[in-house]
Amino acid sequence: MALWARRAVRALRLWGPGREPAWACRPRIAGGRTPISFSAVVSSAFGNGGDRKKEKLFLQDIAELIRARACQRVVVMAGAGISTASGIPDFRSPGSGFYSALQHWDVPYPEAVFELSFFFDNPRPFFSWAKNLRPGNFRPNAIHYFLRLLHDKGLLLRLYTQNIDGLERASGIPGSKLVEAHGSFASATCTVCGKPSPGEGFWAAVMEDRVPRCAACTGVVKPDVVFFGEALPERFFLHMVDFPTADLLLILGTSLKVEPFASLCEAVRSSVPRVLMNREAVESCAWRPRSRDVVQLGDLVDSVERLVALLGWTEEMKDLVQREAAKLSGQDR
Ligand code: OAD
Ligand code: ZN
Repeated sequence: MALWARRAVRALRLWGPGREPAWACRPRIAGGRTPISFSAVVSSAFGNGGDRKKEKLFLQDIAELIRARACQRVVVMAGAGISTASGIPDFRSPGSGFYSALQHWDVPYPEAVFELSFFFDNPRPFFSWAKNLRPGNFRPNAIHYFLRLLHDKGLLLRLYTQNIDGLERASGIPGSKLVEAHGSFASATCTVCGKPSPGEGFWAAVMEDRVPRCAACTGVVKPDVVFFGEALPERFFLHMVDFPTADLLLILGTSLKVEPFASLCEAVRSSVPRVLMNREAVESCAWRPRSRDVVQLGDLVDSVERLVALLGWTEEMKDLVQREAAKLSGQDR
């Protein structure tokens, strides 16, 4: 990757609502450059140009655009809401979200679990959460398979996910089509010496409620999940080519509360329809709606099934889900 891009990757660090790190508020010298805000990058590099079309769109119109192949470079932004149907709680849903459950733990505020300073002090809440997410514990659901079908039909330009549960991969979407923006459990690294840690040892420790330690230096091993303040994976930079060339953006199951991921929804051209499917309206889609936005509120599985029906893909979806479920059951045996 070019040097300028590496520097810029360093400038793109994760932050959440109201918890912007100090560097985000003041200019900072980083590799000889002053980082600029992500939204400034977006508006200067991508602009909001393109033909502005004013007519109001509905889900049916989106289905027709896809069927007519007027939309065939679909970019998807996904969050924890796409995995709740697989049994994995999201973060911020009141009552059921992971952050609500933390009220009973010794944690100063929920996001602290994903902050390095707290992790070094007390890594146990993070590993208790991670234990539940061990690979193979959960299966993809209809939403993941809908995205797989988009890929099979050659329509998926890229799937940007904040999820670290690996269910997009498990549904059969190839790594080349994925940007796991908040990292994954696929690899782990020693927080002291920086050595990669083999998966088996890591999971054996986590499953026995032990903090995984590095074989070389006994430092705490952390999975390569992006914590607040950490740099995003280099693949995140694909957004610079994907979003300006997308012709449809699907935003699924996310509160859009965490940057810089959230701001990606501003990076498609203004002529490009954005479809938000979520339980409630969120962030920029609620505050700064565009004329071609489609907001489909309610349960995500219902919304996706509705879109699949409008597309005429219901039978194909059933076949795919059955085939893949049989494959996964075979692997379990
Ligand atoms: P959130 O928990 O913030 O948001 C999930 C969204 O999905 C909420 O708006 C829910 O209402 C919605 N939702 C959940 N289940 C749904 C369903 N069945 N049907 C429709 N909508 C549903 O999760 P994210 O936006 O993914 O970061 O959170 C972003 C980041 O915050 C995470 O990646 C994580 C967290 O701190 C890190 O771990 C670094
Ligand atoms: Zn080490």
